[in-house]
Amino acid sequence: MKAYISGLISDAVRQISPSEAEEVLGSGNFDISYPKSGFGDYATNVAMMLFKKFNVVPAENPVDFAKQLAEKLVELDGGYTFSNIEAQNGFINFTISPRVLLNTLSEIIEAKENYGKVDLGQGQKVLVEYFQPNIAKPLHLGHLRTAIIGDSLFKILGFSNYQTESDTHLGDWGTQFGLLMLAYKKWGDAETVKQDPITELNKLYVRINTEMEADPELREQGKAEFVKLEQGDSENEELWKQFKEWSWQEFGIIYDDLGVRKADNDWPESFYMDKMPAVIEQLKAKNLLVESQGAQIVNLEDYGLGVAVVVKSDGGTTYLLRDLATYIFRKQQGFEKQIYVVDNRQSHALAQTFKILELLGVITSPTEAVHIAYGVLSLPEGQMSTRKGTMVGAKELIQKAQEKALEIINEKNPGLQNKEAVSKQVMQAALKYFDLSHNYKSDIVFTWDKALSFEGNTGPYLQYTHARINGILRKTQGIAVEQIDQNIALEDIEQLLLRKLQKFPEIITQTAENFSPNIISNYLFELSQIFNSFYEAVPILKETDSAKQNIRIKIIIGTAQVLKNGLNLLGIPAPEEM
Ligand code: ARG
Repeated sequence: MKAYISGLISDAVRQISPSEAEEVLGSGNFDISYPKSGFGDYATNVAMMLFKKFNVVPAENPVDFAKQLAEKLVELDGGYTFSNIEAQNGFINFTISPRVLLNTLSEIIEAKENYGKVDLGQGQKVLVEYFQPNIAKPLHLGHLRTAIIGDSLFKILGFSNYQTESDTHLGDWGTQFGLLMLAYKKWGDAETVKQDPITELNKLYVRINTEMEADPELREQGKAEFVKLEQGDSENEELWKQFKEWSWQEFGIIYDDLGVRKADNDWPESFYMDKMPAVIEQLKAKNLLVESQGAQIVNLEDYGLGVAVVVKSDGGTTYLLRDLATYIFRKQQGFEKQIYVVDNRQSHALAQTFKILELLGVITSPTEAVHIAYGVLSLPEGQMSTRKGTMVGAKELIQKAQEKALEIINEKNPGLQNKEAVSKQVMQAALKYFDLSHNYKSDIVFTWDKALSFEGNTGPYLQYTHARINGILRKTQGIAVEQIDQNIALEDIEQLLLRKLQKFPEIITQTAENFSPNIISNYLFELSQIFNSFYEAVPILKETDSAKQNIRIKIIIGTAQVLKNGLNLLGIPAPEEM
């Protein structure tokens, strides 16, 4: 609709000032926005923005120009799309006609799960990297965020016609694994570890870190274990494989319980081992590598990014070097854009990575590599330290949310079938929506009551609204649904709901352009509120006028569909009953 409006504006300006139109339109930019209620569906400041660009002004002042433009727009649209186009204090407001609203409704009912799809991506191939856990380590709350945000962005970009694939970039390489192996060999008991591998391995890791403080020799031994692994020592390789297998079992909680899509690609950090030397050659060829205190660095001080260490003074490779190899490899796989869903503490490291790639000529546009730098998620009861091994991690949070969701369902709807399954869906909604309804950049404090409530701006409330509509629809099953009567007079509240439904595709565009699922979240919350007012204001089952009843049934079918499509993009299931 915004594209239609801007096309209409161009045509109007051409008619008003044929000689200056192209230049004026080319030099001035204006917005088309959603005004507050009472000012139509769309508003634009075009008259004020363009007026100052004319050499020969078409009106006395911007306010008059707005009126002149509005009249032209009415004429050009012919009253088809807009029932009202009106100038007010220099702004022009557009109100969509009931006919178009009814067409939108038919479109939703026909398109079903495809309603809202947009062509922003034009088939561009994009890699979304998210949920990058580290082996042999408990999942912390940050991993919960990258899983939730990444999974949602993945779905949103796909819906916007990007050709998407995901990668998990598993953390499975580095000296810390040498330390862990040392600890396991020294103190590990195979039987105990097998019972609860990640907890036990983490205890061993904590212990070696503590003992290392008193005995620095241990660090050297740990490093040596890692070197052995790098050189293909078979005992260490076996151990490393075993750690990996245990870890994948642990990650099941994110995939199966939280309901996050498994990554399309599994190119872990270790995968880049043999790809790093070529990157060093590339850096040398571009004269980017300098030796400094025995290390190989890239000086990025001119860009305010300090110094990036590529190879350490002991010859060890760095995380940064692996990241360079990662980007280059993935670009070679045909990904024209790469999205990194990584917490904001790594902003500096990624900024360095992207800058070096730009200097290498690998990254060629500023929008090619995107860092979705999300903030910290914490619990009101406080974050505890990994070192002490006492942190409340992702697993505990998911399990506790699951228990609480079941309690709530038992209380609210004790007779419900599949209570276990539904409570899992409610848990997913509670955790995911709590995260996604905030801007990803913000630090957020998780509050149980707020996340799990069935009222207010929460995931369970949206699910409940969807289920409520399905409950009504089950009761309307005997009623014959006819064609939409194009001449029906719509109530204000019906129009309000339809106007909201009509905005959904534009909301998708905005969300995808900004990589911000909270735009969809807010929209769905507002939609649910409008639906609930609608349902209070007009009868459906008891309506005796069949044309009115017919349109209301269609309106709620459309509303349920949009809610479901939106929730799906947030990774939240929409049960029929709860
Ligand atoms: N595994 C890392 C962590 O848990 C995140 C990896 C981020 N991705 C990257 N390409 N550097 O902190």
